[in-house]
Amino acid sequence: MHSILILLFTILTIAAAPPPPPCVNVHLIVARQSNAWPGEGRMKELADSIKRQLPSADSEALQYPAYGDIWRYRSSVFAGDKAMIAATTTYVSRCPNSTIVLLGYSQGAHIIGDILCGSVIEMGFLALNPLDGHMGAKIVAAVSMGDPTYAMGLPYNFGTSKKNGRFPRVNHTACTKYNSIRRSYCDEGDKFCAAGFRFGVHRKYVAKYKDDATRFVLSRINASGVMLPRQ
Ligand SMILES: *[C@@H]1O[C@H](CO)[C@@H](O)[C@H](O)[C@H]1NC(C)=O
Ligand SMILES: *[C@@H]1O[C@H](CO)[C@@H](O)[C@H](O)[C@H]1NC(C)=O
Ligand SMILES: *[C@@H]1O[C@H](CO)[C@@H](O)[C@H](O)[C@H]1NC(C)=O
Repeated sequence: MHSILILLFTILTIAAAPPPPPCVNVHLIVARQSNAWPGEGRMKELADSIKRQLPSADSEALQYPAYGDIWRYRSSVFAGDKAMIAATTTYVSRCPNSTIVLLGYSQGAHIIGDILCGSVIEMGFLALNPLDGHMGAKIVAAVSMGDPTYAMGLPYNFGTSKKNGRFPRVNHTACTKYNSIRRSYCDEGDKFCAAGFRFGVHRKYVAKYKDDATRFVLSRINASGVMLPRQ
């Protein structure tokens, strides 16, 4: 009797869970900035802009704490790293024919760098291995804005910054293979990505670079062979 009840309960629970959304050609995983309410944060505007151009795209907000204070930043990044690896792996496993686009603002950008390159152990962050190469091959574009791990001289840097970020990434061995699919926006004066002191700079990347980032992502998707609609 008892086991029948458990079985019944299990069936009811499974039946009650909403079905996962259908697989789409392009799935965006969006990581919000520190201290933002759960959701896509500032990157929502860019995600919406990309989705307007692509009939077969959807997005999911990365679920992670996004704590911005110095006491919890490191554990929040680590939780975000694991969540982004899990979100990517789960989607690719369920939808093997789909491609993935990563968008991350501030702490969200730090997380993108971590899952592609491994964590910044040189700056005292918990060790984390980069995403498995099979999964990584499904990522067709990755856009970072105001990344605290920003490092000078990388081919995918974009903007006016002339300084390293707060936690500059040193080891690029694992992620050089992703250089062509990445773009990292950082402007001079940004407190987090450019060791600056101008507060407003860090908030303005979407307003300033949304069109450029949209074109970049669409061109990377196009180059990956996913069909784009005629403009
Ligand atoms: C993926 O594509 C292959 C070949 O086009 C097809 O046979 C398969 O059903 C597709 N899988 C999914 C989950 O859509
Ligand atoms: C850099 O990263 C690669 C791959 O993750 C690793 O094999 C190598 O040991 C790292 N180099 C240093 C100096 O830590
Ligand atoms: C997509 O690729 C084709 C050639 O492969 C090119 O002619 C076209 O301009 C590209 N479109 C975009 C939006 O990048």
